[in-house]
Amino acid sequence: MRFKKIIIALIALVTLGSCNANPKTLKEAYKNYFPIGLTLNKNNYTNYEDILDNFNSMTCENEMKWSSVHPSDDIYIYDEADKMISYAKEHHLNVRGHALVWHEAIPAGVFLDKNQETISKEDLLKKMKNHIFNVVKHFKDDVYVWDVVNEVIDENEDPLNEDKTNVYRQSSWYNICGRDYILYAFQYAKEALNELEEELGRKMNVKLYYNDYSLANPTKREKLVEMIKYLQENNAPIDGIGMQSHYHINSFSQVEFENSINTYSSMGLEVQITEFDVSVYEPESKENYEMGLPEDIELIQASIFSRAFKILRKHKDVITGATFWGAADDSTYLDDLNPNRKDYPYMFNEYHEGKSSYYMVKNFLYGGKD
Ligand code: GLA
Repeated sequence: MRFKKIIIALIALVTLGSCNANPKTLKEAYKNYFPIGLTLNKNNYTNYEDILDNFNSMTCENEMKWSSVHPSDDIYIYDEADKMISYAKEHHLNVRGHALVWHEAIPAGVFLDKNQETISKEDLLKKMKNHIFNVVKHFKDDVYVWDVVNEVIDENEDPLNEDKTNVYRQSSWYNICGRDYILYAFQYAKEALNELEEELGRKMNVKLYYNDYSLANPTKREKLVEMIKYLQENNAPIDGIGMQSHYHINSFSQVEFENSINTYSSMGLEVQITEFDVSVYEPESKENYEMGLPEDIELIQASIFSRAFKILRKHKDVITGATFWGAADDSTYLDDLNPNRKDYPYMFNEYHEGKSSYYMVKNFLYGGKD
C-alpha cells in the first residue's frame, strides 16, 4: 500500500514538473487552437529569423495587392511575392493571400476605358475576372486563404437606415457596379480554384474570406450582416470573415469583440483575426514615447492582447487564425502613417524581445508568468 502511494506521488511529481514548462513559442502554445501569423514586406522579410519560430502563417503586407502584381492592364509581376513565398516555405510558414479586390492599391486606370472615360460595368467585371483568375491561378495552393474582397462596408458611423441603402462604401467599384461585384468576386475566385483543381488533377483546400476593419463595431457589424445575407442568398462561396482588428490603447471592447465572433460564426462562417495590432496612442493624442514605451502603457496593451486571445481560445472551434499586422516594434506601417511619433503596436519590442503581452498570451496556462 505504502509502495503504491510512493509510486502515485512520483508520477504526480513527474507530470507536474513536465507540465510546468511554459511553451517556448506562440506557435507551440496555440498548436491545439489556431495558426499564429505575422505580416512581412519586401523590405523587411528576412529581418525576423530570431522570432519566426513563433509563427506558422505569413501575410505579404503589399506584395500581392493589385497594384503590385498587376500594375497595368496586361502586365502581371509576381517576382516579389514569389520570393516571399519561397522564404515562407523554407521557414514553415503558410501564406495568407491578401487581397484580390480592394478600392486602394489599385491603378486608377482600372476604372477607365480606352477613351479615358469611366468604364462600363460589364468591362470592369471582365477586368476583375481576368485579375482574379490570373492571381489565384498563379499562387495555386501556395496560399491557404484569400481575402477575396477587402473593406467594402460603409465606414460612416450612421446606423443602418431603414431602406438599407447605406451598407456599402461609395468606391469606384460600387459606383460602377453596385454591390454585384462583391458576389462576382467570390464566384470568380471559386471558378478559378475549380479550374486549377481540374488542371492539376488534385483537390485543394483554399478558403475564401471577406476582410475588413472595425468589425467589432456594432454599427459596422449590422451592415456586414446585411452583406453576408445578400451573399449567402445568392450562394456566394464565402468561407469566412477576416476581422482586421487594428486597435489603439483605448479602443478594445471585449464584449463587442466576442459579439462579433458569435454573430459571424452563427451565420455559418469561420473567423480569422487578420491584421491585429494595438497602437499605444489614441488617434488624436499629442503624446510621443520616443524614449521608449512606458511600463504602464505596455501593461495596458498587454491586457488588450491577453483578453482578446482569451476570447479567441474560447472560440477555437470557429477561429482559424490570428495574424499580426507586422512582427516587431522596429518596423511598423503606423510609423509611416504618423512619422512624428514612434509607435509600438506588437508583442515583440524593437530588439525582438517578447513584451509583457507576449508572455501573457503565450503562457496563458500559468497566468502569463515566464
Ligand atoms: C488595411 C489593409 C492592409 C493595410 C492596412 C494599413 O487594413 O487591409 O492591407 O494596407 O490597411 O493601414
